[in-house]
Amino acid sequence: MMDAAVLHRLGEAPRCEPFPEPVAGEGEVVVEVRCASLKPVDRQLASGTHYASPKELPVVCGTDGIGHVGRGERVFFGGARAPFGAMAERTVVPRAFTFPVPEELDDDTAAALPNPGVSAWLALAHRGKLVKDDAVLILGATGVTGRLAVQIARLLGAGRVVAAGRDPEALRSLDALGANATIRLDAPAEELEAALVREAGPSGFQVVIDYVWGRPAEVFFAAITRREFAAMRAETRFVQAGEGAGAAISLSAAVLRSTAVTITGTAGIPSREVLAEAMEQVLAHAAAGRLRIATQRVALAEIEAAWDRETKGRRVVVAVR
Ligand SMILES: NC(=O)c1ccc[n+]([C@@H]2O[C@H](COP(=O)([O-])OP(=O)(O)OC[C@H]3O[C@@H](n4cnc5c(N)ncnc54)[C@H](OP(=O)(O)O)[C@@H]3O)[C@@H](O)[C@H]2O)c1
Repeated sequence: MMDAAVLHRLGEAPRCEPFPEPVAGEGEVVVEVRCASLKPVDRQLASGTHYASPKELPVVCGTDGIGHVGRGERVFFGGARAPFGAMAERTVVPRAFTFPVPEELDDDTAAALPNPGVSAWLALAHRGKLVKDDAVLILGATGVTGRLAVQIARLLGAGRVVAAGRDPEALRSLDALGANATIRLDAPAEELEAALVREAGPSGFQVVIDYVWGRPAEVFFAAITRREFAAMRAETRFVQAGEGAGAAISLSAAVLRSTAVTITGTAGIPSREVLAEAMEQVLAHAAAGRLRIATQRVALAEIEAAWDRETKGRRVVVAVR
């Protein structure tokens, strides 16, 4: 038996307790875990509100982390086979979902950065098809993933990056990461709409990455709706990635008929090739100090108490050893 963050019932916090050891099957490896990250998706899965929430219990929580495989190679891993998970002394994953980690990255950064970094990279580069000089809007830019999206939009050559969030202090800190302007998402609807219209300017946003959905997304769509018959202008590619402000919105048909907006989402796990290329880029930029993430450590033994703790702008890293 090994120590693991075990979830017995959806809606509860996992507890650190003994769990059977994993055994590798065909194409799999056992990982000696060093640390795992605790992300919104881990909480959503355990709460039962995520589309991929576990159907059978108990399970070990945690979707990714870093650890050692084989003769001691340090890797970032994901995709543990249920009922195993990342928050345990050992887990089992497809070999294809292990990625070597550059020496320059400390354990906590190496565990915390790849998931939000790669997902932001893929959202911007693949789903948002960002090209040089595009104007980019990040809704939910004050969160861990949004902060990385601001930095990555810059690295990918965005001409202008507008960052929207609620927390005023976090918004102020985004200038240093490359934001050209910030917008308060908690402003009254008319004020928010006016700010979005102002920052979009005459040529609009070409890429929008949305980590919040709900009311801010509704106001955004109201802001881009044209109020007259007008010539079609450059496409806005809206990429849905998170739902912090609400799981559903009301979308007026006029939005889609008056403006060239395409609404897509992050669309599941990409192919191994696409994932590996994004991972390589993100890890190389992180190793060179061009991508930053704030972390906070908790011990696996304290997982139950730490599960729902508020850690504004910081990614919790669960230390296993
Ligand atoms: N699909 C994917 O590939 C993918 C990948 C990574 C993350 N995500 C999702 O994206 C979301 C953000 O992830 P994260 O890692 O950045 O989490 P996080 O660090 O907890 O950040 C949450 C963000 O959402 C904002 N927010 C929360 N509730 C809000 C509300 N009621 N109204 C407006 N804004 C609100 C926060 O704004 P303030 O802090 O300013 O209040 C902050 O910007 C989560 O839903 C996560 O599951 C999806």
